[in-house]
Amino acid sequence: MEHKQDLMEKIVSLCKRRGFIYQGSEVYGGLAGTWDYGPLGVTLKKNIKDLWWKTFVESREDMYGIDAAILMNSKVWEATGHVATFADPMVEDLKTNKRYRADHLLEENGIDPKGMTVTQMGAEIKAHKLKSPDKNQLGDVRQFNMMFATQAGASGDSSATVYLRPETAQGMFVNFKNVVDSFHPKLPFGMAQIGKAFRNEITPRDFIFRLREFEQMEIEYFIRPEEWEEQFGSWLVRIKDFLTKTLGLDDSHIHEHEHSEEERSFYSKKTVDLEFDYPFGQKELYGLAYRTDYDLKKHSESSTVALEYLDEEAKIKFTPHVIEPAVGVDRTFLAVLCDAYTEDIMGEETRAYLKFKPQVAPVKAAVFPLLKNKPELVAKAREVYGMLKSELGAVMFDDNGNIGKRYRRQDEIGTPFCITIDFDTLENDTVTLRDRDTGQQERIKILELLSFLKSKI
Ligand code: GLY
Repeated sequence: MEHKQDLMEKIVSLCKRRGFIYQGSEVYGGLAGTWDYGPLGVTLKKNIKDLWWKTFVESREDMYGIDAAILMNSKVWEATGHVATFADPMVEDLKTNKRYRADHLLEENGIDPKGMTVTQMGAEIKAHKLKSPDKNQLGDVRQFNMMFATQAGASGDSSATVYLRPETAQGMFVNFKNVVDSFHPKLPFGMAQIGKAFRNEITPRDFIFRLREFEQMEIEYFIRPEEWEEQFGSWLVRIKDFLTKTLGLDDSHIHEHEHSEEERSFYSKKTVDLEFDYPFGQKELYGLAYRTDYDLKKHSESSTVALEYLDEEAKIKFTPHVIEPAVGVDRTFLAVLCDAYTEDIMGEETRAYLKFKPQVAPVKAAVFPLLKNKPELVAKAREVYGMLKSELGAVMFDDNGNIGKRYRRQDEIGTPFCITIDFDTLENDTVTLRDRDTGQQERIKILELLSFLKSKI
């Protein structure tokens, strides 16, 4: 356990030192639950999002991407039940930080919470010395709606209250008819969205794991009700493959957890989480939920538009059901970082490096002149760098310090390949190409560099 905490500290410190992640508003002492992505972090995050988009949207024929507004009419959240049900009295297990409905806990212990205020519930829990289901001490009871509310426009009346969306999902449900009218897709088909979501977490924690402002990658996959089990199974395989084969997470660090009835969100009939072995414990990474026709039905009832599907052959209209694979970008980023972080001994020194898959790595290659004070080496290195940069973008140039230190700096940010221009280069147009994981070098023709790198990334 000590070792794992140590690992988390090393990762947080590397992220700050090398420009992956900084504390939000750091110069003012920070703001809980917010972190800022630095130059390497923003690129790594973009790579993760691009791979997801490519896998689940661009390479499929049945997916429709959207980018809906973060601010939505508050009737959306009234219809879904978020306004009412995100305002539960909650109590937190002080050891595991799991939260529980205070009223449910009282009921389970034979105490009727009906009509009790939050203060009364807290007093009852204390008076009966109630513990959490894990037998730990409990904190205070709070009435807590996790949605951030704000005011739209100058009016002070309550009709101007809007919420920052707590999930991207609803942007897809409310646009269901728009997409159907524009593209006439046949079931099954899906909508996908990547975007920010906000939850006023009681206890933001664990670096970028539990945030108040975070990013989601969600799919609402619309199906016929009778096929839900088959579709659920297929999506489970797809999301596992994405995490392991595309992002390179270790299969043995991913675990399935099916929610019990109590754990399930109010809209779900079955939920399976893919949990990941983070240094601070096995925690939710990817969620797969069968949301039935809950959301489309609620919006059809509450709005003026029927969110239905017309089966043209059978000439019937019905509300499709939905399978929802949903993942947090920040949690995925953290899982990728944790699995990539490696220490080994190289050249009798301990080195720390990030063993990213080349597709994920924020910098694909770095180019060095062997010596900084030889203008012909620097000029040639600049030429090779310019050629690679214009084709690949994510390429770095470094002539600072000795070559060993430069390799270590690139290892630490996970650059898979380092290219060095030396005196032989000037003779025969070959360079050394060093592999991050093995430290092995081979000579390669400059003419072949680009196609080699393209084949790896
Ligand atoms: N839309 C599901 C979630 O936000 O977790």
